Amino acid sequence: MRKKIVGASWKMHINSIKNGLELAKEIKDYVGNIDDIEMFILPAFPMIKLIADILKGTSIKWGAQNMCFSEKGAYTGEVPPQILKELECNYVEIGHAERRMLFNERDETVNKKVKLSLKYGLIPIVCIGETQEDLDNNFQNVKLRTQVLWALNGIEKQEMREIIFAYEPVWAIGKQKTADPEYVQSMHSFIRNVIIENYGYEAGNSIRIIYGGSVSPESASLLTKYGDVDGLFVGRFGLNAQNFKSIVQSVIKNNIK
Ligand code: PGA
Repeated sequence: MRKKIVGASWKMHINSIKNGLELAKEIKDYVGNIDDIEMFILPAFPMIKLIADILKGTSIKWGAQNMCFSEKGAYTGEVPPQILKELECNYVEIGHAERRMLFNERDETVNKKVKLSLKYGLIPIVCIGETQEDLDNNFQNVKLRTQVLWALNGIEKQEMREIIFAYEPVWAIGKQKTADPEYVQSMHSFIRNVIIENYGYEAGNSIRIIYGGSVSPESASLLTKYGDVDGLFVGRFGLNAQNFKSIVQSVIKNNIK
């Protein structure tokens, strides 16, 4: 059975170390000893070590929101996978919609990063999702298929089980409401089928697909009641320890049913 996940990216919402450390301590107090599901937090790069020191020994893991597509060299301002490994990151987020839109990240770059993350033993959380324009043109399936196949291009089947896809419809990020839970399930099932068709049942069945896009304590339960939704990726509403805990609890409850 695929283990359920609740992760939070702090993006750049948390923009001071003091606030980051306080939030990490609170989250640790609220959910630090829950091990029914996997949990992770992705702070900004310079905070990773400090957050890791707080979370060590708890069941909450940590990771980065991005990394370089190359291992080493003249890439000013970039962060190499080796350093993330040394910081004991478990996860690295790749190809978030904001990176694709604001920093011109392409599917080809995403693929390079996925390969590198696996090489360094980091679990890639690969973000995919259609825009409003895709949706208006009924292009969502083509977009998702393209993003999935690019992400997995050239990766050995046995390595694929490590990968997590985060289905994040761009039109649902930063909004008040999430996408409709039934729509989310249908898209997760579509994504899984694309993987099965191209790489076989074993790969498609073991890859976890989590949903992100305005996830809140109110929507968490409905979003995770369907079988292809393996967890939630939380943005704004995860910046509060009580919210994070209630999202975690909803996912656990649905897991037990
Ligand atoms: P949001 O962010 O929950 O603030 O919409 C989600 C995301 O981009 O992963």
